[in-house]
Amino acid sequence: MAGLTLENVTKRYGELQVIHGVDLIIEQGEFCVFVGPSGCGKSTLLRMIAGLEDISGGSIAIGGRIVNEVAPAKRGVAMVFQTYALYPHMTVYNNMAFGLRQAKMPKTEIDTRVRAAAEVLHITDYLERTPRALSGGQRQRVAIGRAIVREPEVFLFDEPLSNLDAALRVQTRLEIARLHERLGATMVYVTHDQVEAMTLADKIVVLRDGRIEQVGSPMELYERPRNTFVAQFIGSPKMNFFGAGQLDPSAPEDLRGGGPDRIIGIRAEHLREVAEGEGILSARLELVEQLGEYALAHMIGDDGHEFIAKLEQPPRIPKGARMTFTARPDLIHRFDRASGLRID
Ligand SMILES: Nc1ncnc2c1ncn2[C@@H]1O[C@H](COP(=O)(O)OP(=O)(O)O)[C@@H](O)[C@H]1O
Ligand SMILES: [Mg+2]
Repeated sequence: MAGLTLENVTKRYGELQVIHGVDLIIEQGEFCVFVGPSGCGKSTLLRMIAGLEDISGGSIAIGGRIVNEVAPAKRGVAMVFQTYALYPHMTVYNNMAFGLRQAKMPKTEIDTRVRAAAEVLHITDYLERTPRALSGGQRQRVAIGRAIVREPEVFLFDEPLSNLDAALRVQTRLEIARLHERLGATMVYVTHDQVEAMTLADKIVVLRDGRIEQVGSPMELYERPRNTFVAQFIGSPKMNFFGAGQLDPSAPEDLRGGGPDRIIGIRAEHLREVAEGEGILSARLELVEQLGEYALAHMIGDDGHEFIAKLEQPPRIPKGARMTFTARPDLIHRFDRASGLRID
């Protein structure tokens, strides 16, 4: 198995630069997730690792070997795409065997690998079907199987769950996590979905506009986001932001945390309702979303500022009534308003 090293990697399409000097180390056996909004360069970066896109500058090494000039098939990587990219007229078996036959692998070895992968992915019963006769989730498992049989050093996934419905997405996500446990291979996984990133990753790389905003474990990013972008991208609902003027001026200084040059961030799950006069902010209840296990109270301040509080019980007060909240000082994030960078 192999790790990856990216050094000052850039990508230009003509005049347009879309990746701006990415430095990154992915350890052998690590599950690394690239996350960020659409268009931030996740697929481009992954495709450069796969060798499907030229590298405009810098270097990419897999297992210590620089692969800038190495053909995709010789990099020891296998890629799974969002759109499955299966051959429609071939059976599942032949789809999985295709690449190995191209590589002139002996028939018995191919058969062993295809059947073993099918077993792992629970698609043994479908081996003689064509993709047409499979559900989206089954097709995606075939696409993953086609990657597994190649026994790559590095798996590359580009939004593999995006075309699946919600229930299947959760199930397939678990299967990918199990697969990683079982194979111990290095995996690089692209998604725009922060829940996928949080649940799958050993290491998350948050990208914006072709640059890395932060690299860290899911909990590092959740607990200590480097800037307001990461703070709002990781965690659901999004972190609430407040200006100094939106917090109660009579609240203790360590809770309000600063002047007009600061942004205060508090996650919905860290707001706690308290009696009037005992909190750091108060607002009117606008709407309640009841989610069974918890409720989201959508609040609106006197100046129209909106925020969300996550509550164990839905509030027993009418819409428009006031609620007051506080938060533990160590769960209050502070950012510089001008740069967006974390302060502490
Ligand atoms: N072949 C191409 N030619 C020109 N621009 C491209 C090409 N492929 C991608 N881009 C641009 O590069 C940027 C990053 O794209 P992409 O890596 O697909 O983003 P993501 O996968 O994060 O949604 C986007 O602005 C996109 O329009
Ligand atoms: Mg993409």
